[in-house]
Amino acid sequence: MTYSRILGTGSYLPDHILTNAELAERVETSDDWIVSRTGIRQRHIADDAEKTSDLAVRAAEVALANAGLDKSAVDMIIVATTTPDMVFPSTACIVQEKLGIPGCAAFDVQAVCAGFVYALATANGHIKTGLAKTVLVIGAETLTRIVDWEDRRTCVLFGDGAGAVVLGASDEAGVLHAKLAADGRHQHILNTPAQIVGGKIEGIPYLHMDGPAVFKFAVKALADIAEKTLAEAGLDKSEVDWLVPHQANLRIIESTAKHLGLPMERVVVTLPEQGNTSAASIPLALDAAVQDGRIQRGQTVLLEGIGGGMTWGAVLLRF
Ligand code: ACO
Repeated sequence: MTYSRILGTGSYLPDHILTNAELAERVETSDDWIVSRTGIRQRHIADDAEKTSDLAVRAAEVALANAGLDKSAVDMIIVATTTPDMVFPSTACIVQEKLGIPGCAAFDVQAVCAGFVYALATANGHIKTGLAKTVLVIGAETLTRIVDWEDRRTCVLFGDGAGAVVLGASDEAGVLHAKLAADGRHQHILNTPAQIVGGKIEGIPYLHMDGPAVFKFAVKALADIAEKTLAEAGLDKSEVDWLVPHQANLRIIESTAKHLGLPMERVVVTLPEQGNTSAASIPLALDAAVQDGRIQRGQTVLLEGIGGGMTWGAVLLRF
């Protein structure tokens, strides 16, 4: 039986940091409001010259180095992103070109903030069925480029960054179970409705979110998918060592942890320093906890995310 296992993790954050105090000079908000409602204290912002693919490449190079693998071993690249460099080709193809590994399969996955769990589940499926052996799975975003900096309800929430894992074929079980879900009936509560028509952008090109509606939906969907994923894998809540959730709102994360009976010490939280980096937030958090030694080989880790669509999902793995 072939399994897939995480061989290495990596991440990259742009140098420029924007604090809540700096934001309060641009829109009517305050550090107090942002921290108490979301937990966010600062976020990283990509330079004008830095594209999503640049962030992705930096994270991928670190993940490959940490896996002890040469880039020539990669036979598939999957990039989860909502903010691709361009309409097409996919950001994964651009990443492939920048890494200098022509030939391997490359494609993007678009499931907004759930993108990384969608991409990891897809990579797992390819490895288990023998279609790939070594997959670079990357979550990369420059989401602050589609934020309306005059809208205090959204501009305080997001940040840029990238995280990556190298998922490889193994005789040992790594990914234990994955579960994905979507409900397009709720697409209007979180979207960026612009489209290109006749060479012009039609519709609002900024991220729109009905915050309270997304909050309510997220709390229920994340508790539900965590429970179903564990049940289908035949594991009890008490067997989870670490929860690595999408980083959107500290109150949502605390609610999921409570539902799982996990103390917050076993939940990886990067939200205060990074904000919501959409598809990048889960691999960024995973890498942080792997690099600082919290997550150890052999431990059971539950990743879960939710995003526009609505889309949501979980991946349960033995690290
Ligand atoms: N500073 C000060 N006041 C603000 C700000 C701000 N930055 N933003 C909103 N307010 C005001 C509102 O105008 C409102 O004022 P009013 O009562 O006078 O109308 C008041 O604060 C309350 O607004 P709410 O939107 O009800 O605030 P809420 O407590 O729901 O917090 C938040 C908003 C943080 C967005 C929350 O709803 C949330 O986190 N939702 C979920 C977001 C999420 O999980 N997204 C995940 C997916 S993201 C993706 O997929 C790309």
